[in-house]
Amino acid sequence: MESDKQPGMIPVRPRRNCANEARNLELTDAILVTGGAGFIGSNFVLGWLRHASGGVVNLDKLTYAGNLRNLDSISADSRHNFVPGDICDSDLIGDLLASHRPRAVVHFAAESHVDRSINDPGQFVRTNVQGTLCLLEKARRFWQELDPSSRARFRFLHVSTDEVYGSLGPADDAFTEQTPYAPNSPYAASKAASDHLVRAYHHTYGLPTLTTNCSNNYGPFQFPEKLIPLVLLNALEGKPLPVYGDGLNVRDWLFVGDHCAAIRRVLEAGKPGATYNIGGRSERTNLDVVSTICDILDELRPDATLASRRSLITFVKDRPGHDRRYAIDAGKIERELEWTPGTRFEQGIRETIEWYLGNLEWVAEVRSGAYHEWLQLNYRGR
Ligand code: NAD
Ligand code: TYD
Repeated sequence: MESDKQPGMIPVRPRRNCANEARNLELTDAILVTGGAGFIGSNFVLGWLRHASGGVVNLDKLTYAGNLRNLDSISADSRHNFVPGDICDSDLIGDLLASHRPRAVVHFAAESHVDRSINDPGQFVRTNVQGTLCLLEKARRFWQELDPSSRARFRFLHVSTDEVYGSLGPADDAFTEQTPYAPNSPYAASKAASDHLVRAYHHTYGLPTLTTNCSNNYGPFQFPEKLIPLVLLNALEGKPLPVYGDGLNVRDWLFVGDHCAAIRRVLEAGKPGATYNIGGRSERTNLDVVSTICDILDELRPDATLASRRSLITFVKDRPGHDRRYAIDAGKIERELEWTPGTRFEQGIRETIEWYLGNLEWVAEVRSGAYHEWLQLNYRGR
């Protein structure tokens, strides 16, 4: 099964502006991607230009999680048109739909970090719920006015999470598309609300929607607030590795390139109105994940002062409402669309670690916030 391995192999190029000059550059057979400067969105855009035909209009607000450096390797590609902007800006969305007439919307933009949602839930409702509603409404109006063949082809693909299903016990069956929603964090609740709106737009208006609920992604370009890059970079620097609670919470890890391949497949062949669960067949406890990262780093970058980086593991106070286990039953997408995750966790985590080691300049900029300063410079007065 096709997967995007290449991003893991390409070092980020030296700094330059990858935004296309003209916001209204005409693209042929385009899709509109939201959040395409974030972790999964940027991997998706890079993969789309390698594997699919047609251009990409990439709308991203460039919050702390958005980074145009992720798109450096396509800075000269005329099929990519980056537009800085907010999914809550309905005039902007209307303009983009009218001027580019995309054949699909692929919606990644979101606030995505559970811990941040605990500190500031309001921002999650604004972006994840109101922003998705704004997009749906503009997409509906656009779609309703298309000619019959464009109308039949149009799709609205909403990227969501397994966290909407709540928490599993150790012996429970994995989440299927029929599992009732039971979100436990403000993040999960906001994503659940957005999923319900997408469902309602299909049911009420007939908008040809597709929803994907995937498990935890990992791979190149992930912001170092999330477990894997955070632990990897701390371990490299000999800092403590914070493990919440007893470290026995389980996640089903999905390599981002496999996820992007699944989204392309759903866009191509998914049934309008359907949802598809996407998982990596890689359930691991957090402690397993952290220990694996330590062992690979010990091998690739031995530290003479430490017998093993596992000694850096530090148990810290648990996250409030911390879900115990997520696991995805991806049987539906495997059967109906013949997609399977191509990357075993041991292989994907090694490639991810190698990518971070090869891109420490990217890491340094993300951490220092230098790319935000560059952005201010680049967009001031535009
Ligand atoms: P991310 O936080 O890395 O990126 C989000 C992107 O959205 C950023 O580029 C940000 O600038 C942009 N954005 C935020 N608010 C915006 C707004 N109002 N208007 C326009 N752009 C905005 O997130 P990610 O990890 O790439 O996740 C992408 C999608 O996948 C999200 O919808 C998330 O819920 C979902 N998802 C992620 C995971 C995961 O493990 N990362 C797992 C399941 C589902
Ligand atoms: P995270 O990457 O934040 O993803 P999510 O909460 O969406 O699953 O966290 C993955 C798991 O790792 C989760 O069980 C929380 C845990 N975790 C830690 O133990 N320590 C940390 O510093 C972080 C960020 C997460």
